[in-house]
Amino acid sequence: MKIMAFESTCDETAVAVVEDGRKILSNEVFSQAKLHAVYGGVVPEIASRCHVESISLLTERALNAAGLERGDIDAIAVSYAPGLIGAVLVGVNFAKSAAAALGVPLIPVHHIRGHMAANYLAYPELEPPYLCLAISGGNTLLVDVRAYTDMQIIGATRDDAAGECFDKTARVLGLPYPGGKAVDELSRGGDDQRYAFPVAHVDGNPFDMSFSGLKTAVINLVHNAEQKGEALDRAGLAASFTRAVSESLVPRTVQAARKLGRDTVVAAGGVAANSRIRADLQAAAEAHGLRLFIPPLSLCGDNAAMIGAQAYYEYQSGIRAGSELNAYATMDL
Ligand code: KG4
Repeated sequence: MKIMAFESTCDETAVAVVEDGRKILSNEVFSQAKLHAVYGGVVPEIASRCHVESISLLTERALNAAGLERGDIDAIAVSYAPGLIGAVLVGVNFAKSAAAALGVPLIPVHHIRGHMAANYLAYPELEPPYLCLAISGGNTLLVDVRAYTDMQIIGATRDDAAGECFDKTARVLGLPYPGGKAVDELSRGGDDQRYAFPVAHVDGNPFDMSFSGLKTAVINLVHNAEQKGEALDRAGLAASFTRAVSESLVPRTVQAARKLGRDTVVAAGGVAANSRIRADLQAAAEAHGLRLFIPPLSLCGDNAAMIGAQAYYEYQSGIRAGSELNAYATMDL
């Protein structure tokens, strides 16, 4: 089954064709990052307008790259939540029109479910059940994936997402947007014990997380140093900060997998590209005898292939959307 998928929830316009949920036939991504960089973050209206400008061209490219005609497409999938509402609406409306024009089913996909499914594209052997750490710009979740479309959140951030915290840290350090990658690069070779940052423990649920205290600690440290005219060890700061994020995420992931009796751990989302977090997950998985899957860097960030992958399984479980499909800024997993 060949599914053409659309992704436009933030600042990547993406169109892909995926076969049977596992094989990428094409995967076109246009990142708007450079357009937003001058503002230090995503400007929602610019994102929406840019999606409108690029989605048709990317669709033609995705078809051509897959070597397919329009009539070869069996279904259309779209990431319909969560995200910047104006941006999501562009993909949803385009997908609805495409499904109507081709006379094929329309499959709505939750963006975070898509991130998790990126792993199906890279690892043919991966099947549920597994425990997933989903870490992106807007979400930080521990999810028990019992089956392809049956999942339960068992822990989540109570405030900021891990990616948001990376972006804010980058901003106070004067690094370019998007900040996560820049902090990652700066941290390499830095002393991760240079600064002591808090690792929050949340009352009530041991698998919930909090990053707002860490974010404030970084901001205060940088501002204090500026006011006193003291030099900052920037690489040490980036490394110490990343250690604190990793110490919030990795032990909880392992504990959650053990508590639920899962022998497989999966990471997903833009922050799963972080070199320190990848290495810490690897070491923790080896130490506890867990199988670990992390998407290749090319599939960690937003793309449409991951939406096409999850769409296949949503379709198998009977999920379809009609012409009334809407976009949503927030939505439960
Ligand atoms: O999954 P994603 O592309 O978009 C959302 O669905 O949110 O994630 C974007 C987030 C941003 O916060 C970005 O700074 C972060 O992922 N990110 C990273 C790295 N690469 C991207 N964070 C840490 N280290 C990285 N190497």
